Amino acid sequence: MKDKIIEILKSNADLFVSGQEISGKLGITRAAVWKYIKQLQSEGYIIESVSRNGYKLTFCPDILTYEEVKDKLCDNRIFNRIVHFNTIDSTNNKARELAEKGEPEGTVVVAEEQTCGRGRSGRKWYSQAYKGIWMSVILRPETDMQSASYITQIACTAVGKAIKNITDNVEVKWPNDVYLNNKKICGILTEASGEIDKVDYIIVGIGINVNQEKDDFPDIPENSVTSLEMEVGDVTRKNLFCDVLRLFETLYLDYKEKGSSEESVTFCRENSNIIGKDAFLTLGGKNIPVKVTGINSKGELTVLYENCNTN
Ligand code: BTN
Repeated sequence: MKDKIIEILKSNADLFVSGQEISGKLGITRAAVWKYIKQLQSEGYIIESVSRNGYKLTFCPDILTYEEVKDKLCDNRIFNRIVHFNTIDSTNNKARELAEKGEPEGTVVVAEEQTCGRGRSGRKWYSQAYKGIWMSVILRPETDMQSASYITQIACTAVGKAIKNITDNVEVKWPNDVYLNNKKICGILTEASGEIDKVDYIIVGIGINVNQEKDDFPDIPENSVTSLEMEVGDVTRKNLFCDVLRLFETLYLDYKEKGSSEESVTFCRENSNIIGKDAFLTLGGKNIPVKVTGINSKGELTVLYENCNTN
């Protein structure tokens, strides 16, 4: 009901709409309208209330509800269903739960805050309220498990391109991190379920740091992680959220329908911060020193053994 009230107020931008008109349109009492207006105000909407005139919307908050993003998502073919939470443990957990119950491809789970945001290798992911974009999308590609890593690159490219539209010096750490000014700004956690040769669903969890200050990353070494606020200043989360989904959808549909992976492979290659660097390849529990030489057309990392004697 709240979304319907916002819709009415938005379609009467800068005009007063009477409580009676709203209650008549929605078939609820004027007392109920008032209750919803109070809730909307507590979410950050600025709604003037003047007796005998009614209600006037003067400001919409930077939140990621369907109501706030739907105008920008309406042309999307798959990423147009938003499941929004103010607080949740982890959007990946919720997306997995929904996928297990048969939720279709394209559903986006997004939260303003995660109380148990998860990073890769069991790490914690700082996800304070309104400080970033914490979302997970459900995909059901008709493909095998190996593709999961490729889909991570698509997501990485979408985020990289969206941030590049805001500022320069964006790099990709293949296949799942985006860096800005040499500091990590986005991490991706991809989780898949199914058989080796047939994926049931893939959850792509994306965390983008937007509004944090330095102190919001306790116990993370300084200058290893950053936010858009720290690098470029104020960025509107809802615009970035929609940009990422639009770019992600285009790349994903290209891959799904035409089998094309060129754009994201090229982006990850051209903006890589690991090509030419020394790294370790973990094989059979051993760390083997290698030099990263590139990303091939299949989106795989190519390396050169530094020392051919691996014993
Ligand atoms: C990493 O770099 O370690 C991956 C971080 C992934 C964080 C995102 S935030 C949304 C989604 N929900 C989670 O619990 N994690 C991912």
